[in-house]
Amino acid sequence: MSVPIVRTIVELRAVVAGWRRSGASIAVVPTMGALHEGHLSLVRCALQKADRVIVTLFVNPKQFNNAADLAAYPRTENEDAAKLTPLGAHLLYVPNATEMYPDGFTTTVSVSGVSEGLCGAFRPGHFDGVATVVAKLFLQTGADFAFFGEKDFQQLLLIRRMVRDLDIPITIVPCPTVREADGLALSSRNLRLSPAERAVAPRLASVLRDTAEGLSNGSPVLPTLAEARAAILSAGYRQVEYLELRGEADLQPIASIDQPVRLLAAAWLGQTRLIDNIRTLPACQLPNESLRIPR
Ligand code: PAF
Repeated sequence: MSVPIVRTIVELRAVVAGWRRSGASIAVVPTMGALHEGHLSLVRCALQKADRVIVTLFVNPKQFNNAADLAAYPRTENEDAAKLTPLGAHLLYVPNATEMYPDGFTTTVSVSGVSEGLCGAFRPGHFDGVATVVAKLFLQTGADFAFFGEKDFQQLLLIRRMVRDLDIPITIVPCPTVREADGLALSSRNLRLSPAERAVAPRLASVLRDTAEGLSNGSPVLPTLAEARAAILSAGYRQVEYLELRGEADLQPIASIDQPVRLLAAAWLGQTRLIDNIRTLPACQLPNESLRIPR
């Protein structure tokens, strides 16, 4: 049997109420569709943690600051449902824009601090759109757990902050970035790369890995980041929006590595914007973390 699909809040709540009556725990995996192995790994983790798993599919217009980007976003509901069925996901929730934002909708959830800088600086309004829709999805599903990938690290921290600040009774579970064999972080945007761009794309991950290793081993921060930017550009990326070292707990800028930090980047390859990040540890705490991105 294929995964059941509901499209309205009323239908969703009726299914959830039935599950609650039987005492089941519930997880949600929010997505914008075009499901790839990264999303599927979130669903597998969710299935291990909770009795029932809801996957949501909504291409959220409020988080796109560019109309062309929204129009170009892949919409592949049938293929997505076909990928979820064999995993055993229990429900696919696919609201349309009117269900999510009916006439007269005026509320925005805005999380300051962690949403500033990095992607927040280059995509005005993006994180307000994310926070607003994720808050609604949490309230609509009433789930106990929600699963998010570490690839969107700033998004993950923002959602954690929002849940704490608004006392939403849900546990956020982060999951590691899933990568292609050559290190490229999985993303729905990878589908837009030409064969030539696809060949260049993994250089972002390999530069991050080498830079994180260098920084862990004591290379000076600013010159090392400048070299990394130059390496990304000379690999064939058109523009580096940001390449920054930030505290892992709060994304505050940091100047030296005496605690676990994240090296985060966004760069344009042709018409496609890719993001990635890697954990970077002080040398004394180095296990095999930096080996996660294959050479
Ligand atoms: O990461 C995404 O795909 C989206 O930002 C999310 C969390 C589903 C909200 O639309």
